[in-house]
Amino acid sequence: MPKVSIIGAGNVGATVADVLAQQGIFGKVVLLDIVKGKAEGKALDMWESAPLRGSDTKVVGVTNDYQATEESDVVVITSGVPRKEGQSRDDLISINAKIVKEVTENVVRYSPDAKIIIVSNPLDVLTYVASITAKKPKNEVFGMAGVLDSARYRSFIALELGVSVRSIHATLLGGHGDFMVPLPRYTYVGGMPLTQLMSKEKIDAIVKRTQFGGGEIIKLIGTSAWIAPGNSVADMVYSILGDCNRILPVCAYLEGQYGYNNVYLGVPAVIGKNGINKILEIELNEEEKAMLDRSYKGVKELMDVVDKMGLF
Ligand code: APR
Repeated sequence: MPKVSIIGAGNVGATVADVLAQQGIFGKVVLLDIVKGKAEGKALDMWESAPLRGSDTKVVGVTNDYQATEESDVVVITSGVPRKEGQSRDDLISINAKIVKEVTENVVRYSPDAKIIIVSNPLDVLTYVASITAKKPKNEVFGMAGVLDSARYRSFIALELGVSVRSIHATLLGGHGDFMVPLPRYTYVGGMPLTQLMSKEKIDAIVKRTQFGGGEIIKLIGTSAWIAPGNSVADMVYSILGDCNRILPVCAYLEGQYGYNNVYLGVPAVIGKNGINKILEIELNEEEKAMLDRSYKGVKELMDVVDKMGLF
């Protein structure tokens, strides 16, 4: 029976649990939070919805009891503080790096074989923190960002063209931040290149809206999004549990791919039961490579900040 544990029962964590329960993964979902009663209450609310959904997925909540997470197949780490208006994802680093380190230590103690998905921001650098802490094969610790960013991008394109979101296929590269790199040249609408169906001005506007998609939501509701992020994580969990080998943009450790070493950056990858089975490299033109370089530099700078924090 598959088991998924989610650390942090806040907006994103609870949404992941809720989506998995709705999809009926026919297993167990454990929600864990540091705040007493929070995970228990949300899990109970979800379990009470089970008869209405017709889903037997067991959702249980615990307060900081890592034993309840033991032998999980997948662990999702969402613990941390979310962004508020006026904050960048990078502002969260000093608080969230310590939280992610401590949480990862507890996670691997009880689930040494779990695939670990990081969600806490700043995403790329916290995936680095989790990976160093976990001391696991690099393909088993990765971050969720690209699935969300590409969902936002696809949703805007569908809206503009008046076609189904299911007809839009896209990937993107780079860090989860304002320097992410959407790739219109590799975006397809019903198998046709987007660049032939939409003007450059419209595409540029959609790319920009995608890059600042997180901020747009914060401006509206005062905190960071959780519905699209939660669904994005659930998509990744599904591909792991089902060994689907879906190609998803994830934050992965690069060893020479795209010309970068020793960095976590968003790239398309094949995701199955072993985690990342393969990173796919696509040809980039000069402009795309320059954008990716800028994104890489941003992530590297934050990795340096973490290195100087003396966490390891
Ligand atoms: N152990 C377990 N849970 C913790 C810990 C910890 N050490 N520290 C904080 N938490 C919990 C909080 O109690 C809270 O319930 O993490 C949860 C975070 O939830 P929210 O504050 O609702 O934040 P959310 O919107 O879910 O975002 C979580 O994901 O997208 C990113 O930027 C976002 O880093 C943020 C993370």
